[in-house]
Amino acid sequence: MLIAGNWKMNLMPHEGMMLTHEICMGISDIPSHVDILICPPFTHLAQCSLIIENNESPLLIGAQNCHDSDEGAFTGEISASMLASMGIDYVILGHSERRFLFNESNDFIARKCLTAFKAGLTPIVCIGETLEQRNKGIVHPVIQEQVLSILHHEQIVSSISAHNIVFAYEPVWAIGTGLAASPEQAEDVHAFIRLQLEEKLGDHASMIDVIYGGSVKLENAKDYFLQPNIDGALIGGASLNAESFLAIAAQA
Ligand code: PGA
Repeated sequence: MLIAGNWKMNLMPHEGMMLTHEICMGISDIPSHVDILICPPFTHLAQCSLIIENNESPLLIGAQNCHDSDEGAFTGEISASMLASMGIDYVILGHSERRFLFNESNDFIARKCLTAFKAGLTPIVCIGETLEQRNKGIVHPVIQEQVLSILHHEQIVSSISAHNIVFAYEPVWAIGTGLAASPEQAEDVHAFIRLQLEEKLGDHASMIDVIYGGSVKLENAKDYFLQPNIDGALIGGASLNAESFLAIAAQA
């Protein structure tokens, strides 16, 4: 089980440090089968990593994005190897906010995924349909296209066993809206994702965490975790408070 917090562009550095410290303090109460990950903004990563290190905490740390090139003239961008050099473990790729607000394509996200692998990071690839696509009844084809755009790359498939990959199913209409997908709606898509993974990766598919995101909170978390193909959660709003984040993790 993986419980990941996506802080997005929230919290000033001192607030992020405080939150990291509080999570480190509470993590010993969480069962050991649950991995806990925080994804602060780039500017907070060094300080938050240091807090984790100083506390000898099992808390994992990830970034919210990286570029698809390893270096070069890309003003304002951060490379996967820069993140890896700071002891970062994971990177969120293709979050719907980046797909829609920054026009990121499936192809660009696949290239980022390759660079992340090369740097030794584990990518968390976000996929999900819009409300319009759901209403049109094309959820599975949309999800299939997003998953296959990653798994079409031979190099990605061959890197998965070494570096691992996580898929986060995040229906766009459920993110930050309070309109969470029902556990049954989520399970239907997760089972479909697992099928795609099995077709491409065989037995290794069962090792890959497929986590749900979109308005996860303490009140609904357990119902997701009871579903056979839901291996955790990617949490936005409710990850900005140690008590609510850890309480969700305790349900996993
Ligand atoms: P939310 O965000 O939990 O605030 O809906 C989830 C996400 O965007 O990853």
